Amino acid sequence: MNVPALDVHLDDDEISRSLRSDVITGLTAEKKWLPPKWFYDARGSELFEQITELREYYPTRAERQILTDRAAEIARHTRARSLLELGSGYSTKTRLLLDALTASGVLETFVPMDVSPTALAAAADRITADYPGLRVHNVVGDLTRHLKHLPVGGDRLVAFLGGTIGNLLPAERAAFLAEVRAVLEPGEHLLLGTDLVKSPSVVVPAYDDAQGVTAAFNRNVLRVLNNSLDADFDLDGFTHVALWDAEQEWIEMRLRARWPMRVTIPGADLVVDFAAGEEVRTEVSAKFSRSGVQRELTEAGFTLDHWWTDQDGLFAVSLAKAIPLS
Ligand code: AVJ
Repeated sequence: MNVPALDVHLDDDEISRSLRSDVITGLTAEKKWLPPKWFYDARGSELFEQITELREYYPTRAERQILTDRAAEIARHTRARSLLELGSGYSTKTRLLLDALTASGVLETFVPMDVSPTALAAAADRITADYPGLRVHNVVGDLTRHLKHLPVGGDRLVAFLGGTIGNLLPAERAAFLAEVRAVLEPGEHLLLGTDLVKSPSVVVPAYDDAQGVTAAFNRNVLRVLNNSLDADFDLDGFTHVALWDAEQEWIEMRLRARWPMRVTIPGADLVVDFAAGEEVRTEVSAKFSRSGVQRELTEAGFTLDHWWTDQDGLFAVSLAKAIPLS
């Protein structure tokens, strides 16, 4: 049995330091906010898995359809010897790529990178069992900070799926894409999943489902603060809000205080007051157009080789090639 390698660039200490600093920055700001990466403790990851199965949440199904249809083409086009997956979570859709890339006979290494060691460990066990001969090299890291530690060498394909790039603000996105480009050699590839701009009557329910799973996922960030920083948020005191911002072309998730509250967060040496109706922005999920994706990729030093959408035009997967940096 082949044992997965593990590089840890984020230890528990560092995770709690960065949580603390994000909480201090976000909850003392004029307009309160929290970064979405803190949704994903074990319970949050489980809730996200449930979201992906909701009738209203189309991105996962649409992207899966694209990957099912195009995986063989991706393998032929990239001839990838290693697949690096950013924000891999449980790596469920990745299997479509692994199947095609191993069938084509050149894939040697799979490098999943995620902030969650538990998601990585669970996925790695199943993947090593199902793909004998594949070298699995886990990287625990933050995709906005630890890209430079990704293993080098060997016709790499970096996959960033699910539309998670939409969680980054435009300036962060540009910096992130430039960094991905900087770790690649010319001719290596990026496979990027992006949710597409569409009617709010389709997007909004995807972030505000009838069963309230997304609401529970959103409130879970407060539970993370309660558990990790000993905070005393009353989860019932916050309503889930999902808003379409037509100008920015993104969904914003917020938590709205139902009544005035004083919350103590001992782990961050913080006391935070909420007025009735006051909101905390917990996530931005940007939606894209082909021209926008093309422009952002070009600006970062990629060419867009392929653009694929599902049959309903809801979601897109782009295959881009790193071009020489001048
Ligand atoms: C995992 C970031 C792609 O933005 O659609 C799902 C997270 N938030 N429902 C998304 C999410 C609310 C999801 N990503």
